[in-house]
Amino acid sequence: MCHLLISSHDPEVKIPTVIGTVSIDGLVVPAGEARVSVFDRGFLHGDSVYEVVRTYDLALFEMGAHLARLASSAERISLRLPWTADRFDREVRRLVEVSRGADAPDPVAAPWNLGERSVRIVVTRGSGELGLDPGLAVEPTVVLIAVPLRGPPLAAYRDGIAAWPFGGHGAPRRGGDPAAKTGEHLFHVLAVREARAHGAQEALLLDGAGGVTEGASSNVFAVRGGALETPPLGVGILAGVTRAVVLDIAGRLGIQVRERPLPLAELESADEAFLTSTVREVLPVVRVGVRPIGSAAPGPVTRRIHAAFREAAGGGHNPGKVPASV
Ligand code: PDD
Repeated sequence: MCHLLISSHDPEVKIPTVIGTVSIDGLVVPAGEARVSVFDRGFLHGDSVYEVVRTYDLALFEMGAHLARLASSAERISLRLPWTADRFDREVRRLVEVSRGADAPDPVAAPWNLGERSVRIVVTRGSGELGLDPGLAVEPTVVLIAVPLRGPPLAAYRDGIAAWPFGGHGAPRRGGDPAAKTGEHLFHVLAVREARAHGAQEALLLDGAGGVTEGASSNVFAVRGGALETPPLGVGILAGVTRAVVLDIAGRLGIQVRERPLPLAELESADEAFLTSTVREVLPVVRVGVRPIGSAAPGPVTRRIHAAFREAAGGGHNPGKVPASV
């Protein structure tokens, strides 16, 4: 059991109970002692890139795609990755291995997530003298954090979730480059805050014209007349790894896909809607804002795609984890 339980009363550590296994620049350290400098530009400016990867049967899923996106994000902000893709792959595998152990029971978890890990890979531009100039950074910092995978509860797949629109005309604009997965996330944080305040589980980020672009940490799909509709990468979204897997699955199932801008009103009038992300897979959305979507229950196309996703991702090695009832 390599997870650490840190008391929220520990005066040394101003973080709540944390369970995880961490490495900093390749050195595995206890989670409670994992620290980076206050001069680190990731902390000061969100000057960093990151990925969230997950395991199935403790094997990394789509690691090649995640590492390619990490490289692309780094290139988009002119951050030099200090490790090769091979080294990232090796170090993440090693951390997953170190993090193995009995997890606390979670009676509400989706069964296919039990015992699995998610790993956050963070690369900051590093520490240096105070100032915005990236030239002040001396050496990038690499932090890997492996935690027991906390996906949505099984009930969220059975009943669907609510999503809340955020942004749009007259609202603050998101900053940064949506195609780069960087640490600059204040817009997303405020979006999720607003969603939670309205009892919703995810925020939908609107562009200036009121179009739905993506979720705060997910991609968005509508289902209309049996076909999928999803905003194209060109509207300014992250190229989701799960989104790409779903587009591939749709192709194999003969489900038509229309990649086109998605005005909020069109999402609201869809037959079905769902989100995709590494940790959530394919998650039905049954309410957008105050409006029910379709019959306000997960629809047949969403279920079919999720079942095919489960089969592709985790089903083969772990038949017991394929959700016949979801
Ligand atoms: N987020 N869009 C945004 C803005 C995201 O942050 C994410 C993922 C996605 C979905 O991408 P993928 O399918 O590759 O996970 C879309 C990660 C999971 C996170 O921040 O936790």
